[in-house]
Amino acid sequence: MKKIGILTSGGDTPGMNAAIQAVAQMSWLNGITPMGIYNGYCGLIDGKIAEIEDKDVEGIVVKGGTILKTARCQEMKTPEGLEKALNVLKAFQINGLVVIGGDGSMMGAKKIAESGIPTIGLPGTIDNDLAYTDYTIGFDTAVNNVIGEITKIRDTMCSHDRTGVIEVMGNKCGDIALRGGIAGGADYILVPEMPFDVDLLCEKLNAKRIRGNTTSIIVVSEGVGKGEAIASYIGARTHLDVKAIVLGYIQRGGSPSAFDRLIAVKMGMRAVELLMEGKAGRVVGIKNDNIIDMDIHEALSMKLEFDSKLYETYHKMTESIL
Ligand code: F6P
Repeated sequence: MKKIGILTSGGDTPGMNAAIQAVAQMSWLNGITPMGIYNGYCGLIDGKIAEIEDKDVEGIVVKGGTILKTARCQEMKTPEGLEKALNVLKAFQINGLVVIGGDGSMMGAKKIAESGIPTIGLPGTIDNDLAYTDYTIGFDTAVNNVIGEITKIRDTMCSHDRTGVIEVMGNKCGDIALRGGIAGGADYILVPEMPFDVDLLCEKLNAKRIRGNTTSIIVVSEGVGKGEAIASYIGARTHLDVKAIVLGYIQRGGSPSAFDRLIAVKMGMRAVELLMEGKAGRVVGIKNDNIIDMDIHEALSMKLEFDSKLYETYHKMTESIL
């Protein structure tokens, strides 16, 4: 192994830089040249590649976003795009690749691995929607961002006796809503994985108000629908003053949490080890606090499991006072 390419793809996540730094440093340690591929798969197809130097990664472990930039690349999904990508990898003599991204990015990594270039995928998405790993890089920071914002929103909702409906990201996965909602002390959490009855929720919110408890926080995962629509539905069926807040990209930004930095560094180190061991077509993740690796096909065929027990128990608990 002489040259390892690194790219970040899909939505950026806090912790991607920590993984890049680890891959680069682990490469140097082993006499390998790390090559930065800019703008995700689009940059790979266009040959936007340059050797990573130590000044490029100095101190980036603390920085959010990705120094390599990222993109959602439609062309990579086509056979022509794949062929171009493979030709560029050959032209740059890159004989190992590390891809940091979510499920779409992993599909690209799988195709490259199948075409004969040893490729390792690292889970980089705030959504936590890759079934083979307990945590994806960036999820913990996103949850911390969410709870920080809920705390601020609660102060102002409380001062005005208002109900806040807070829409959070996560794509089709309710993990950010569940973990952020619980850690932020939400009264109710709506996620795409679990059924819910907004009319019943309205009744409960009304009853709560009659008891003199005039502030509620409802966290809505974007996979359920628009927070704005849910807020106006609740507003029309209760006597509450309901405000919708879309947290948006705030969730994806900022310095990564210690947890995200640590898993990113550990996963980056493992990715280079795997390439040096001659492994190809694998993904790295974390299970029960241990860094694991797995065949990429097996990992991508696994079904995502939502923690419905935690969800149900939390709501039984909060509903008893709603
Ligand atoms: O996958 C990460 C994510 O932030 C999702 O939670 C969200 O649905 C999506 O990306 C937003 O995508 P974009 O950055 O393209 O607007």
